[in-house]
Amino acid sequence: MGKIIKIAGPLVIADEMEGSKMYDVVRVGDEKLIGEVIQLNKDQAVIQVYEDTSGIKPGAPVISEGEPLSVELGPGIISKIFDGVQRPLDVIMAKSGSFIGRGVMVAPIDKNKKWKFKVQNGIEAGKRVTEGSIIGYVQETELVKHYIMVPKGISGKIKSIKEGTFTVEQQIAIISTANGDKPISMLQRRAVRMPAPYAFKIAADVPLITGQRVIDFFFPLAKGGTAGIPGPFGSGKTVVSHQLSKHADTDIVVYVGCGERGNEMTEVLTEFPELKDPKSGLPLMDRTVLIANTSNMPVAAREASIYTGIAISEYFRDMGYDVALMADSTSRWAEAMREISARLEEMPGEEGYPAYLPKRLAEFYERAGRVKALGGNMGSITVVGAVSPPGGDISEPVSQGTLRVVKTYWALDASLANSRHFPSINWLQSYSLYKTQLSKWYKDNLGVQFEQMREEAMQILQRESELKDIVQLVGEDALPDSEKVTLEVGRMIREDFLRQSAFDEVDTFTSLNKQILMMGEIMHFKNRAHDAIGAGVQADRIIGSKANAEISRMREIKEKDIVEASKRISKRIDEIFDAILKG
Ligand SMILES: Nc1ncnc2c1ncn2[C@@H]1O[C@H](COP(=O)(O)OP(=O)(O)OP(=O)(O)O)[C@@H](O)[C@H]1O
Ligand SMILES: [Mg+2]
Repeated sequence: MGKIIKIAGPLVIADEMEGSKMYDVVRVGDEKLIGEVIQLNKDQAVIQVYEDTSGIKPGAPVISEGEPLSVELGPGIISKIFDGVQRPLDVIMAKSGSFIGRGVMVAPIDKNKKWKFKVQNGIEAGKRVTEGSIIGYVQETELVKHYIMVPKGISGKIKSIKEGTFTVEQQIAIISTANGDKPISMLQRRAVRMPAPYAFKIAADVPLITGQRVIDFFFPLAKGGTAGIPGPFGSGKTVVSHQLSKHADTDIVVYVGCGERGNEMTEVLTEFPELKDPKSGLPLMDRTVLIANTSNMPVAAREASIYTGIAISEYFRDMGYDVALMADSTSRWAEAMREISARLEEMPGEEGYPAYLPKRLAEFYERAGRVKALGGNMGSITVVGAVSPPGGDISEPVSQGTLRVVKTYWALDASLANSRHFPSINWLQSYSLYKTQLSKWYKDNLGVQFEQMREEAMQILQRESELKDIVQLVGEDALPDSEKVTLEVGRMIREDFLRQSAFDEVDTFTSLNKQILMMGEIMHFKNRAHDAIGAGVQADRIIGSKANAEISRMREIKEKDIVEASKRISKRIDEIFDAILKG
């Protein structure tokens, strides 16, 4: 047991801490505040404390728990709302009345609740199992089958295993190992700062379908991939993160909210439980774990929340699930790192951030990926991190550190947001490095035309942007008719395809199939328009025709009607152009 000698904000220095290890969790003061050892010098430890340290005095005790910062994992974790060190916010609120009382000790997972445990097919006494082997499951919510895996460091033969109704701490099996019989329960603990092991990585060659047209069509993300969303204040980072949580085709969502404004987390806390899983109509929370930090929670808890989130993600990945982790916003995490580093009087790097910021960012995103898990299943973690560069200037360290490691970059643009073009993803600045890896999937599933169409549409957008510069100088009338058509087609791609309302019931999600049909009609218009120009028709007559109006309404057409509608619109475009050509 140690003793406090100094307190500086969220940092506490204690001596007589012999036997402590780096990253051990400790309990600080008489209130038993949770902290973590982040520096050790002989028997003196620097501790970052996850709770408000006011009122703590030198001389007060510090007790080491002898274990690194860990998460508790088992049935009961889905649909929970935790703080950065996995304390269940709802239970804490009920217990302490206020938002978070200090030193409140509550288990992350309910230890009294009983779950119906089923034994996995093929698992029985005598069977050899190793770390990560799936031995059974609990139907945790309607949407999530929670697999029970052999915990870390255990391998051997199953001596006994039984189905029934158990709490997470009760014994469900015994495994005979080289070191004797080990009782197994449904609960396990994992240290959060270390990546969890897996058998091997697999290529990220399957797209994450998000239903967001600008993303799926132009700047796709792979399952197991990484994406960064830098965007200035109010540009739509949170809406994009919510849209992905709702619509992306993953099994599990882990949402880490590092609140910006005080009320933003409150929004998440009130909005998220309202969200519906579009496929089943059930609450999205039935397959979500929410980690919430408000700006009034201590910085250290915010620093930890990213790790808590990714460790929980790895747990579900190891069951064979596709997991999406959203972190909004990672800038708040980096600022927490900066604040702690300053208090440690470390040598500051760029803009006061610690020199190890890029390394921490890289280590975090490297925990994404598609893997063969130790238990044999394939699972993935896709990580999407929002970044809030002050003033929207992405030359700052957090944006730069993120862009160096993520492979998809959605550049949110203040001027697009101001003109109500949402999602405000700038199509000339964004990129996806997954296109090559995904190419085979596109060919196998969508045919060869898809990538050609995407290429063609992107070229039109780029040409449109050049033409707009020219128009600024010489006026639109000076352009040749074919370029006027390009301007019109560019406008159609932007307004009828790239723009997508998150709040419209139909527009909020567009399947890849519908995306291709929508773009297909724009291209159909383009081809007929260029043919007409070739036949001597003036651009004004084409642009003023009704053919483009039909296309702009495609976004409102329901998925089930889209094939028929597309045929009808194609025919209509042909009729209009035929009439134009006849004069
Ligand atoms: N896809 C969208 N469809 C319609 N409206 C949108 C869309 N995206 C963003 N908006 C509008 O922009 C507003 C701001 O978006 P959002 O809160 O996501 O921005 P932010 O970048 O997270 O801001 P902050 O920097 O404050 O966190 C939303 O409240 C909404 O009105
Ligand atoms: Mg936001």
